[in-house]
Amino acid sequence: AQTPDPLIVEKQEWTQYLGEGVNAKPYGVPSKFEKEVVRREVEWLTASRQSSVSFTPLHALDGIITPNGLCFVRHHGGEAEIDPAKHRFMINGMVDKPLVFTMEDVKRMPGRVNRVYFLECAANSGMEWRGAQLNGCQFTHGMIHNVVYTGVPLKAFLNEAGVSPKGKWVLAEGADASAMTRSIPLEKAMDDCLVAWAMNGEALRPEQGYPLRLVVPGWEGNMWVKWLRRVEVGDQPWAQREETSKYTDLLADGRSRQHTFLMDAKSVVTNPSPQAPLKSKGPNVLSGVAWSGRGTIKRVDVSMDGGRNWRTARIEGPNFPRAMARFYVDFDWNGQELMLQSRAMDDSGYVQPTKDELRKYRGSNSIYHNNGIQTWLVRPDGSAENVEVS
Ligand code: MTE
Ligand code: CO
Repeated sequence: AQTPDPLIVEKQEWTQYLGEGVNAKPYGVPSKFEKEVVRREVEWLTASRQSSVSFTPLHALDGIITPNGLCFVRHHGGEAEIDPAKHRFMINGMVDKPLVFTMEDVKRMPGRVNRVYFLECAANSGMEWRGAQLNGCQFTHGMIHNVVYTGVPLKAFLNEAGVSPKGKWVLAEGADASAMTRSIPLEKAMDDCLVAWAMNGEALRPEQGYPLRLVVPGWEGNMWVKWLRRVEVGDQPWAQREETSKYTDLLADGRSRQHTFLMDAKSVVTNPSPQAPLKSKGPNVLSGVAWSGRGTIKRVDVSMDGGRNWRTARIEGPNFPRAMARFYVDFDWNGQELMLQSRAMDDSGYVQPTKDELRKYRGSNSIYHNNGIQTWLVRPDGSAENVEVS
């Protein structure tokens, strides 16, 4: 700043007039100076309302919680607008007695919990299988959000209905135009799945499945059925569209991996990144996020030279199993070129692979489950670009 700094010595406009009263915005909105921080689409990906996706602006966020209005959205049949008074949740199939719950019934169930979990679409980073493609972590990694859910374990509803000893799978079904259906092993359904109606303390947003959604911790986002209206118990998977023609991984030899539910450990440097260039030499804070469907993030290493040398980042703030963790590296930038990478490790011992390691086993025909290490090239002018090193 120049001396004397006019912003220090001159009276500014906002100090001279009364501001708006508290009722001008009964439901708060971000500062107008933050208007660039929005969910964005990739035009060529979003072909129609039947299949649309927007991306979380990871480069503009901090901490671990994604604000509700910035959580990426993925719809297969557009957004269902459901009056909660008319919503019903049914348990049927191989049970002693099929049950139907109103939203009021759902909220009266004993055993309510609050849990922080990431939701990552299996297709996150899916455009990067054949090489560096999209320029910004919002687009390469933004099909993820991390919020605190309020709900009741699915197990409570299943127990009330009485699952037959023959029951091995459940089918979750949404009430939207796509009637999204996915088969989930009964073991998972009885373990940590939630029937949730709130995120970050408020009712689910319509685009996140208001009034009710399924939470399937650590597993691919597609299984987290929104506008949840039915859970059926059966003795085998149903072979629905989303678990046969979609959400399977085509290998190099023509075979496909199926039922690849788990989201493996992954991380990305969010700052600096293509949408968030370095602005000045000297002290800087590198930041990023890491997560693992297997458990808790134990360690994140960061390289500034394309994977030759690594240093351990500082994991800062709450760090829950199957939730996003925040990491930082405080560093001095002397204006040299950087090749930034981050590598996550979880408490199961799993280490995030390089993209080449991943391709060795998975080929490059896949769309889903790309958790390879991301590289950002930072140039001497501070601008950053999506690149690959091999
Ligand atoms: N549930 C229904 N009913 N309809 C959908 O289109 N999309 C799925 C899943 N659940 C979908 C759904 C997919 S592919 C993902 S990645 C997540 O919801 C996205 O959740 P979000 O929109 O809250 O980010
Ligand atoms: Co998805």
